[in-house]
This record gives sequence, structure tokens and C-alpha cells, in this order.
Amino acid sequence: MSPKPFYLTTPIYYVNSVPHLGTAYTTIAADALARYRRMTGDDVFFLTGLDEHGQKVAQAADEHGMSPQEWCDSIAPRFLETWELLDISNDDFIRTTQERHKRGVQAFWTKLHDEGYLYKGAYEGWYCVPDETFHAEDQLVDGKCPGCGRDVEFIREENWFFKLSEFAQPLLEFYATREAEGRPFIRPETRRNEVVSFVEGGLKDLSISRTTFSWGVPLPFADNHVTYVWIDALLNYITAVGYGSDDPADAARFERYWPAQVHFVGKDIIRFHCVIWPAMLMAAGLPLPDSVFAHGFLLTKGEKMSKSKGNAVSPAELAARFGVDAYRYYFLRDVQFGADGSISMEAMVQRINGDLANDWGNLCSRLFNMVGKYFDGRVPDANGAGEEEADAAVRAVADSLPARYEAAMTAFDYAGALEATWDLIKATNRYIEESAPWNLAKSDETRARLAAVLYTALEAVRVAALFCAPVMPRTSAEVWRRMSLGDIGAVTDIEAAAKWGQLPSDNPVEKGDPLFPRIDKDAE
Ligand code: MSP
Repeated sequence: MSPKPFYLTTPIYYVNSVPHLGTAYTTIAADALARYRRMTGDDVFFLTGLDEHGQKVAQAADEHGMSPQEWCDSIAPRFLETWELLDISNDDFIRTTQERHKRGVQAFWTKLHDEGYLYKGAYEGWYCVPDETFHAEDQLVDGKCPGCGRDVEFIREENWFFKLSEFAQPLLEFYATREAEGRPFIRPETRRNEVVSFVEGGLKDLSISRTTFSWGVPLPFADNHVTYVWIDALLNYITAVGYGSDDPADAARFERYWPAQVHFVGKDIIRFHCVIWPAMLMAAGLPLPDSVFAHGFLLTKGEKMSKSKGNAVSPAELAARFGVDAYRYYFLRDVQFGADGSISMEAMVQRINGDLANDWGNLCSRLFNMVGKYFDGRVPDANGAGEEEADAAVRAVADSLPARYEAAMTAFDYAGALEATWDLIKATNRYIEESAPWNLAKSDETRARLAAVLYTALEAVRVAALFCAPVMPRTSAEVWRRMSLGDIGAVTDIEAAAKWGQLPSDNPVEKGDPLFPRIDKDAE
């Protein structure tokens, strides 16, 4: 069977600032799913990139005495470095100033223009530069942006408009159809309700161009108009996979990967992705994505963390302090994906010391150590003794893991997937405690039982490492390496790989350093 395409995206990030924990959060979540889907054999295309146009970016450039392009070119490497540091396995990195993108944007709006979906009009109203969003007078809250509470500026200019209002009904029908088919377009459900009631209230036509500044993609059919940054940005999802190119290879790529399986977004940008984006695609006669998943905000001391609020910590600092895998684990385990989540150093240290150092790291060390001590560092042969109830119980937990993990990941429930994996890790720890190999090692008579116990625990570790790998690729690869199991990154059928009993007897096992050193709470 040929692998099925699985296309997933993060938002493209504004280059007015460097990566922070919020943007890294979406990217790590998408990465864990991309890695998992590669392990289930899908042909994954994982896209991330940068949103380089718009007033906000032009302003940032200006403040730094650079041209917008120079500014973008100076920030782009900061994102690339951070993603590399966090082991992000994206297959492409789109920048909206790239030719391939600009060409696609122009092709798209030319098509909608030709098909009569656009008209010229006068826009008068308010604009929030930090959010790059238009607001009518009656939407303002105390004269400020209803989204972020910051100052808005009055604009009066000639704009081109997209007849978004015509799509309210088709959108409502679309959401309902997907719902009825059991594959909801908007997830999680709370967001769905929010979007549906918004669209039920009716939609206004959308301004799609700006004339009072020039840092954007020129609209091909209208002199002096540049594309409004949001409708330029949304198109990255199709231009990156080849839309708008004459090259047959690009056309084939577009055919293969579009529509996307999931767009990951933060809850603040859901209307763009769940209302404007599908309406644009409908107007262009293009297929609609499977789903948009909106995660919540990371909060520190009850506040949304963001660069502009000055409470953002750099991902690089945290990764250097705690390790990349521990960093990735904490955010996906401690925050329920889809809900807002408070994050703190205390909670992070607790997770690392508890789940990672004590449960998982320690399981590996003590086990590998015992293999070294009792079996010369080789996987013992378990065939000498029959399976006892306790062994079967561990095996049963391992056997149930692939299905539980798959169900959780299909629901974008990372915490659930990790919890299922931890059920195996904890069961194995309990099993070792109860079987007490150190006592079995005291007599020759119990040597076969000792071999069986260590084999069972090692096999459980082999399986657990597989399911830790999407979230913690480094340490999982290391566990497999220490067990002489080869490259975990090459696994393309995780279910088959997880089948019990594949650990070869006699494989050399290396003890190694602790996978997750304990963090000194007080020093933090
Ligand atoms: N450029 C647009 C997206 C265009 S996609 C076609 C944009 N960029 S952004 O850089 O401002 O934000 C990108 C994402 O980061 C958003 O999904 C936003 O929700 C997320 N986060 C920014 N701060 C965040 C937190 N404190 N917590 C979680 N995610 C947050 O919007």
C-alpha cells in the first residue's frame, strides 16, 4: 500500500519578534504529530514558516533602521536556529517574501477577481497594527482593539473587497456537513460553537488590499494596492505545496498534499482560519482542509505570555537549562492541548524530576545496570522460564498502548498519549519492584526467572521508547541505541514495531549516563 499523504501546518509567524514559548508551543505540538505520523507510515509534509509582510513588520524594520526585506532576512535565521535547536522536523519553511509565494498570491486573487468575487470600495474604520486586523467603530472596546486591547488607528482608504458576506450560509452548511460526517472541521468543540455563532450573526465583506503603505504583495489588477497581510499569509498553506506554479512537478505536489489534514493555530486566530480561509478556498473552487485545531494560550501568572507584554522567556534558554526533550515533554504533558494552561518553572521542575528523571530515566538506568551486573551487559534469554501472571500483566499494558496512543493522537490529545505511555512505564517500575530481581540474583535456582523478569522489563522499555519518540526524539533514540536496537527514527510501522517479543536476546546493553538529570529545585 502506498503511504497516504499527511499535510500539517503551523501558523506562519510574524517576524516583528523572535521566537518565544508561545510560537514554539504550536511548533512543538505540530512536530510531535508529524513525527508520530511518519512512524505510522504516512507520507508527512510538515510546513512552518514566516509571515513577513504587513504594517507591523514594516514598522519593526523602520524602528531598526532597516528596509523591510533586510529586517526579515535578519530575523529568519533566528527562527531557523530555534527550530533546529528544538528538533523541529519541518519539511519546508515558507517565507511570504519568496517568489513562489508572491506568484501564488497573485494567481489566487487574479482568479477571484476574474470570477467576480471582488469589488472596489471605500474603507473607513479602525485598524489594529499589532493584530493586523480591521475593526468597525462599534466593535471597539473603550476605543481599543477588541482582540488585544491595544490602540487602534483610524484609516480611510480605497480598498478592494472580497464578497465574504456571500459565504455565511455555505460556511454554516459546510461546518454542519463535516459534523454530520463525524470529522469536524473546527476543533476542539468549544471553538466550533464560537465560530458557528459568529457566522450565524452574518459576515461583512472583507477588505483585501491596502493603499496607504506598500510592504506587501502587489495586487496584479490594481495599481498601488498591496494585498492585506492576512489574506496573503493564509495562502502560504497552498503556495508552499505548489499552488500557482506552472511547473508540472509543483502541480503534482499540490495534487498530492492539498487539502491539508490539519492546520494548528492559536485560539486568537481562529476566525481567519475557520471563516475567511475556507471562504477563500470555496470562492476559488479548491478543496477545504480536514481540520483546524485551535490550542489555548500559555499563561504565566494568569497572563498571556507574549513578547509585547515582556513576559516571554526564550525557548533557547529553557532548552539549554532543562534539555530539549524535557522542554518538549513539559509543554505537551502539562498543558491540555486545546485549553489555556498555566506554565511555571516549579511545575516544569516537578515534571522533569517526577515523570522523566524518576519514572522513565531511572527505569532505564537501573534496568540497564542490572543487565550489566547479572548478564554481562547482554539481553538475557527469557525462554528458560514460562510466563508468569506479573509478566503477562506488563505485556498486556504494552499491547494496549498502540491503540490508546493512536486514539489520543487522532484527538490531538498529547497529554493523553503521554499518559498512556506512562501507564506502561509505571507498570514496568512496579513490576521490577515486585519481582525484586536483586533477590532473584542471589541464587542459581532463580536464574531463569531473573532472566525472564529482566527480559520483560527491557521489552517494555523498548516499546515505551517507541511511543516517547514523537515527543522526545533524542532520548528515545538514545534508549534504542543503548539497547543496540538500531535507528528508532527509521521506524515506519510503529504498531508492528511495538509487537511484543522482538527484543533480540544477546543484544549488548549499555548503561550510559542518566537520560534526565534531576534538577535541583532550590537552585532553580
Ligand atoms: N502571522 C500570524 C499567523 C498567520 S497564519 C496564516 C500570527 N503570527 S504570530 O506570530 O503573532 O502568532 C502565531 C501563533 O502563536 C498564534 O497561533 C498564536 O496563538 C501563538 N501564540 C502567541 N503567543 C501565545 C501564547 N502565549 N500561548 C500560546 N500560543 C500563543 O498570528
